[in-house]
Amino acid sequence: MVRINQNYLKLQGSYLFSTIAKKVAAYSKENPEVEIIRLGIGDVTQPIVPAVIEALHGAVDEMGAKETFRGYAPDLGYEFLRNTIAKNDYEKRGCDITPEEIFVSDGAKSDCANIQEIFDADCSIAVCDPVYPVYVDSNVMAGRAGEYDTQTGQYNKVIYMPCTKENGFVPELPREVPDLIYLCFPNNPTGTVIHKAQLQDWVDYARKNGSIILYDSAYEAFITEDDVPHSIYECEGARECAIEFRSFSKTAGFTGLRLGYTVIPKDLKAGGEDVWPLWARRHGTKYNGAPYIIQRAGEAVYSEAGQEQVHEQIAWYLGNAKIISEGLAAAGFEVYGGKNAPYVWMSVPKGLTSWEFFDQLLTKAGVVGTPGSGFGPHGEGYLRLSSFGDREATRKAIERIQKMF
Ligand code: MLT
Repeated sequence: MVRINQNYLKLQGSYLFSTIAKKVAAYSKENPEVEIIRLGIGDVTQPIVPAVIEALHGAVDEMGAKETFRGYAPDLGYEFLRNTIAKNDYEKRGCDITPEEIFVSDGAKSDCANIQEIFDADCSIAVCDPVYPVYVDSNVMAGRAGEYDTQTGQYNKVIYMPCTKENGFVPELPREVPDLIYLCFPNNPTGTVIHKAQLQDWVDYARKNGSIILYDSAYEAFITEDDVPHSIYECEGARECAIEFRSFSKTAGFTGLRLGYTVIPKDLKAGGEDVWPLWARRHGTKYNGAPYIIQRAGEAVYSEAGQEQVHEQIAWYLGNAKIISEGLAAAGFEVYGGKNAPYVWMSVPKGLTSWEFFDQLLTKAGVVGTPGSGFGPHGEGYLRLSSFGDREATRKAIERIQKMF
């Protein structure tokens, strides 16, 4: 008899952002007159920049001509893109990462979810709490998370590392040593950052204990302050203990185009085995790469015009984050993040859970946020607002929230 993977039955409800989308769709159906402002999921709203559009058109034309047509893309990505990434994202920052160590994919979400497949099912994992739900969900599916405890809202085999205002939303080094440690900075959902010395402590900890850090750096392009690392490879020894994920989704508005990459240094070993060839083998089989056209678009992000245009767009989104942060602070809320990240993490009014506050915002202000507890128990008491909306809509959302209080 065919049986399904029983681990899938341990997943709680639907994916956070799908749950929110369903709630909003139901509300909208019943209240078609309400103009809903969506500051929930971190999806971009501004068009792809002209330098990238030009590259897309050029690549489409190439596909229509016999001499320039391309079939399957190379498993690990086109060299033109891997060379460009290595030079711009690593060499320019003094990081020792070669093009061969870069695996081009259809986005950081797929890679963050898939990476755990190459590690033993018995490996222990540690995650920040609150956390981007993909890390835990993918480990639940793999049977690594254990049983869900409805009392604590946690899986019993996962090491949760609380991120609170008291620790500046940077977790303490865990006493129980995990095999795999998921870190994301600038952080989703709190929008806060880690400083270089703090990240170095994590690298030292991982090297000392033989752990591997899975570092999600999807939001690095939003960093505005010095001393905030863009890559974990800015830390000494990280080549021996860290994998890094990057995305073009937020950096260049590719949420609909899909492009990202993962870095696996050749020095990285797990239980004495080289990790690089295993991920390469996986890429060969379960290919989640990106088409030629999209990889050309990615290359154009690094052109002079591309860089100027995407940086302008990021600064514009950060302008929204400033409006959100200042407006909410003026209304008496505690606010975090938003300076080096597209997310603002706001406190929820006393006496309300984050889901209750989510409902109030939706029904009284027509504003969609993401309840903090959806990201983990320590997210309770907070709500995340995304700065990826339109300027006027963002302003209006904040005015509506201010009027509620
Ligand atoms: C988020 O809102 O947390 C992200 O947009 C989700 C994602 O990138 O998959």
